[in-house]
Amino acid sequence: MFELLVLNGPNLNLLGSREPGIYGAMGLTEIADRLRELAAELGVKLEFFQSNSEGALIDRLHAGIGTVAGAVFNPGAYTHTSIALRDAIAAVRYPVVEVHLTNVDAREEFRRTSVLAPVCAGTIAGFGWRSYTLALRAVVGAIEDQTAHTHHQDQRLA
Ligand code: DQA
Repeated sequence: MFELLVLNGPNLNLLGSREPGIYGAMGLTEIADRLRELAAELGVKLEFFQSNSEGALIDRLHAGIGTVAGAVFNPGAYTHTSIALRDAIAAVRYPVVEVHLTNVDAREEFRRTSVLAPVCAGTIAGFGWRSYTLALRAVVGAIEDQTAHTHHQDQRLA
């Protein structure tokens, strides 16, 4: 069984009460419950971390080196600005799936640029809390494919 990180950035601690017309009525703890249910089904273990600070998010990504197989990450507004988070994602090497509750491409112009997307395994946006469960399925699939590929390569080398 492998471990995965579920990371949430700034203002996501206020989900449920924060602009519910945009972000929905579900809080982060309820989203975590849905993710735990799915994780049990998929046979993976989850670690959750939320911070409003860029540095703390970077430290948590680093702490995952050698301990987690991948991550689901909603970077909040840092998506659009943080080169430091981009460098951290590129450095850790395990697959990170970028997640957004909202369809960022359908909102303000400044949300249409993600400086993180080019170093992420992929992005899921626009499906509310379900973006997280879709992202969890996506990262587990990517890790399984990677493992199968490595196994196949090892067999060829043997
Ligand atoms: C968000 C989208 C970001 O643009 C915004 O700053 C957020 C939430 C989302 O989940 O839709 O804080 O990441």
